[in-house]
Amino acid sequence: MGMFNNRKRWRVPAGVEPTALDRRVMAMESRGALVPKRTLIRTPEQIEGIKRSGVINTAILDLVGEKIHAGMSTLEIDELVHNYTIEHGAIPATLGYEGYPKSVCTSINEVVCHGIPSAKEILKEGDIINVDCTTILDGYYADASRMFVIGETTPRKQKLVDVAKECLEIGMEAAKPFGFVGDIGNAIERHAHKNGFSVVRDLCGHGVGLKFHDDPEVLHYGKKGTGMLLVPGMVFTIEPMINMGTWKVFIDSADGWTVITEDELPSAQWEHTFLMTETGLEILTH
Ligand code: MF3
Ligand code: CO
Ligand code: CO
Repeated sequence: MGMFNNRKRWRVPAGVEPTALDRRVMAMESRGALVPKRTLIRTPEQIEGIKRSGVINTAILDLVGEKIHAGMSTLEIDELVHNYTIEHGAIPATLGYEGYPKSVCTSINEVVCHGIPSAKEILKEGDIINVDCTTILDGYYADASRMFVIGETTPRKQKLVDVAKECLEIGMEAAKPFGFVGDIGNAIERHAHKNGFSVVRDLCGHGVGLKFHDDPEVLHYGKKGTGMLLVPGMVFTIEPMINMGTWKVFIDSADGWTVITEDELPSAQWEHTFLMTETGLEILTH
């Protein structure tokens, strides 16, 4: 009974002298905090690798920003992303990921995320689109997404795009070393609600870097002081999906991927990959 109840997540390998940081995290774990596994702390070499992947990822989204226009199909965006990625010695992480068929996600208007590029889907004036790209370089993952507005859109949709971006920035500011993941979600949720928008609850940010989806789970809503402890060296995304109407979503049964708002009102999302440092978050995808 209780044989495994004292199994710790933060384990200092045998023969390694615990640092001040080790002792601080172990003390917090003893007091009941959900701490990351120690293996989630990235080495300087790993961080350099993720940064190099982030440079390519950023260049891809910059390229999409230069080329995107009304009349273009989302398949053409996929081709841009795919070709740039391969030409720079990298791999598009989504291609073949759990059966996902393309090199990028393109999510227009009421599509929240995981929209699949298609030759039949043509961008038109007033559309708002999220382009979400994950790059693997030398085994290191970088994951980011941006909104693009096609020509001019309505003030309401523009506001949604702007508030979603502010939510990412405010979430980033709320993340402090030895704070908690819940501090991020709480700040995001407050900002969204203050502006009359809602936060998608079914999808979250995630640890990234050596794998596509790792610990921690980064909810974009919730209470301060909840969730996993934030320790310098952790790498994760924040990627709030902000809706104009209800937060509720469903998956399109036609493809099993496309996430759509239940009321079919628009949704907007921005994402970066971040490193937790001694002072706060550093963006690895810009
Ligand atoms: N890039 C998305 C994220 O931010 C995941 C896309 S997975 C896919 O986590 F299979 F839908 F492409
Ligand atoms: Co992500
Ligand atoms: Co992403």
